[in-house]
Amino acid sequence: MTTTVLPATHPLNTDTASSWLVSAYRGERPDTTPVWFMRQAGRSLPEYRELRVGRRMLDACLDPELAAEITLQPVRRHGVDAAIFFSDIVVPLKLAGVPVEIEPGVGPVFAAPVDTPEAVDALLAEHPPEGLDDALDPIRKAVRRSVMALRLLHDGRDPLIGFAGAPFTLAAYLVAGRPSKDHLAARAMIHRHPDAWARLLDWCAELSGRFLRGQVLAGASAVQLFDSWAGSLPAAIYRAHVAPASSKTFDAVRDLTDDRGRPVPLVHFAVGAGELYGVLDLDVDCIGVDWRTPLDEAWRRMPTGPAVQGNLDPALLGAPWPVLRDAVDDVLRRGEVAPGHVFNLGHGVPPSADPEVLTRIVDHVHSR
Ligand code: CP3
Repeated sequence: MTTTVLPATHPLNTDTASSWLVSAYRGERPDTTPVWFMRQAGRSLPEYRELRVGRRMLDACLDPELAAEITLQPVRRHGVDAAIFFSDIVVPLKLAGVPVEIEPGVGPVFAAPVDTPEAVDALLAEHPPEGLDDALDPIRKAVRRSVMALRLLHDGRDPLIGFAGAPFTLAAYLVAGRPSKDHLAARAMIHRHPDAWARLLDWCAELSGRFLRGQVLAGASAVQLFDSWAGSLPAAIYRAHVAPASSKTFDAVRDLTDDRGRPVPLVHFAVGAGELYGVLDLDVDCIGVDWRTPLDEAWRRMPTGPAVQGNLDPALLGAPWPVLRDAVDDVLRRGEVAPGHVFNLGHGVPPSADPEVLTRIVDHVHSR
């Protein structure tokens, strides 16, 4: 594979390569375990809710100034060791022209379900992935602004994490046309129309891959793929019909390296993936673990010996501090089995979380 060296001004070449986060993703043990929280940029913060008044979610994502400000809020407040770019997994679909909105309290809702081979072919014909390249402009601007703001905040040592939705998770929304509990429509399509399914997943991988590449070239120092609904799949189906598309999404950024030839750290996160860790062979640096499987057990099931990320149960955020502190310590201890560990929750911050508890966790992880 030919490599593409990121520009000299890219954060990985100036500020973030020796950060705790990037070091841990690369399988090293910095003095301090880095910590950030999935969904840290969002509804648990009053300053976020204030900014969002009267603005639709996807409009906020496409306003570079606003998106950068929301990205920075949790870094300023909690002192986490990374920012995650404020956006959403359906943004690339929206930018490719697919009619989609995020309904408050519901999630992504599409104009019509894409649940037949004809609907798949019409979708692909109307929205070629190449169309995304120009449309990504507001995303590139928002990433550049976020990186500039991070440079002013702590001398640029905090990396920005870029992200995308995994093809299965996007397809689960597209096929049902809206959120569903068991993702039955998508899982049924795999068996009923395997060829159309493969075309749909490949198209999702193209869009998510372009979304990731745009974020890295604009300044993100690592990327995470959210495979949120993969846990609804049997391992054999995941391996045969889903994993190749997830791997293809990562392929969009695998060639990018810093000026010492080190690739951009890749992180994979699936929810409910206890049955999948044994087949997760996506050639990534770090695997995020949800709250259900203890970190050390999950790591032992993984064939590739990656760094791990996770996995405090979000249900503990409301517990008395001694209980919560012991749980944090337990996660840190179990994380020691892996070559690198990034502390995180086992899923996103719930909207009801007390932000002060999150700050206290950051301080505690840093004091250890
Ligand atoms: O802080 C961060 O993690 C960065 C931003 C981020 C958002 N969504 C912002 C957001 C990230 C990484 C996502 C990913 C995402 N979006 C996933 C994967 C992560 C996971 O939780 O497994 C999924 C499945 C989605 C789709 C989606 N978008 C859902 C289910 C919802 C919730 C709808 C609701 O109101 O209950 C959204 C909306 C969304 N995305 C919000 C935020 C802050 C809330 C919308 C709001 O504030 O009005």
